[in-house]
Amino acid sequence: MRPIDFENLDSVVQAGRVHANLYRDPDIFELEMERIFGGTWVYVAHESQIPDGGDFITTHVGRKPVIVVRDQDSAEVHVLYNRCGHRGAVVCNLPSGNARRFRCGYHGWVFDSAGRLVSVPLKEGYYDGVDLGDPRYGLVNLPRVASYRGFIFACARQDVEDLETHLGPVKNSIDDLVARSPVGSIRVTGGVHKYLFKGNWKLQIENVIDGYHPSFSHVSTLDERGRQFRRRGEEKEGPAIGRAGSDDPNEAIAQMDVSSYAQGHSISGALPERGDKSGPAYQEYLNLMRQAYGQERAEEILGKDWHNTLVYPNLCLQMLAQHVRVIKPVAVDRTEVWVYPITLDGVPEQLNHDVIKYLNITHSAASLIQTDDLEQFKRIQVGLGGDGAEWVSFERGLFRDPVPSEDQAAHAIGSSELPMRAQWQAWRTLMTGEQRA
Ligand code: FES
Ligand code: FE
Repeated sequence: MRPIDFENLDSVVQAGRVHANLYRDPDIFELEMERIFGGTWVYVAHESQIPDGGDFITTHVGRKPVIVVRDQDSAEVHVLYNRCGHRGAVVCNLPSGNARRFRCGYHGWVFDSAGRLVSVPLKEGYYDGVDLGDPRYGLVNLPRVASYRGFIFACARQDVEDLETHLGPVKNSIDDLVARSPVGSIRVTGGVHKYLFKGNWKLQIENVIDGYHPSFSHVSTLDERGRQFRRRGEEKEGPAIGRAGSDDPNEAIAQMDVSSYAQGHSISGALPERGDKSGPAYQEYLNLMRQAYGQERAEEILGKDWHNTLVYPNLCLQMLAQHVRVIKPVAVDRTEVWVYPITLDGVPEQLNHDVIKYLNITHSAASLIQTDDLEQFKRIQVGLGGDGAEWVSFERGLFRDPVPSEDQAAHAIGSSELPMRAQWQAWRTLMTGEQRA
């Protein structure tokens, strides 16, 4: 494998193409963990998962294990490296829970919800005692933690822009989701699907915003003859997309709008022909929304119908199969994905139940849709691990579509590869420390 020349990234990231090594070189992966997952805001949890003092979940920032915990006294959220200040064992080994203290299972050192060391067994064994207040013995806090409307992000670096600046225009997608609740609050507590695929993490973030692949990868579900499932109970049967005034699914996808930003984020527009919703539960929901927001505003909220939003580098929000998807790199050729349904507060229970049911069909490990994509990720990793074309191409729309800037969306049609080019633009910025456009 040809080594990467980091002094000259132009040799591997070019207009509309990147070198295959960027998906298969373990050294590149290590550097990505340091400079991308260690260098920008990374999504860690939703506040609904830790509503009370002492509530916690364990997750990762890049590959580094962390505890996301609500302080018992101040109710502040801390993101703590999950590494004991004694000899380094992972302290908290549960996926979630509520704890007054975290006690390391190896020698019993105990930490509070802010990560401070509060007790050490057999303290007299130490020559000069143990200074419990010495931060080097505690669970180290990530220096930056911030939340936007319940979505908690952390950053391992102090000197980064504030979260809202980083999120930029994709804040609107979060706002749109929250507004769908008549009481303005959502939850990410409806369970989680977790699975591992044999491919590089970038394959998943490219895919969530790739309007070029559905009519091929998902043909068994989307094709006229491939009606594998019905949508939510109230919706009519039929393929999910592909017939918006045209028999050609590619044309339907081309009607979508996709917008991308220099931070690497992208939003894909509404899929055509989604089917009208009806039924008693939906009618009740409509009434609740009208009461809460007024007729006009309720229609405006429900009229917003984007498909996916990618918050670079590790969060996908989907409105169609309403969920939060967290992308967790494991190794250069291994990635874990956690998928949480988003449920809405203040709506008929059936609606939330349908969201969970629908997600089981579309994005679980045994689903009809996501498994198609996972198979393609594996095929790409195997293909790139062999020999053949040296470059991976993202040339659809190149020179036709605009180049994204920080707060100015670059728009394109859904099958453009603009979103992947935007991701590589952000990748390059973070990997080299260059200024954003
Ligand atoms: Fe945690 Fe020893 S490694 S108490
Ligand atoms: Fe797909």
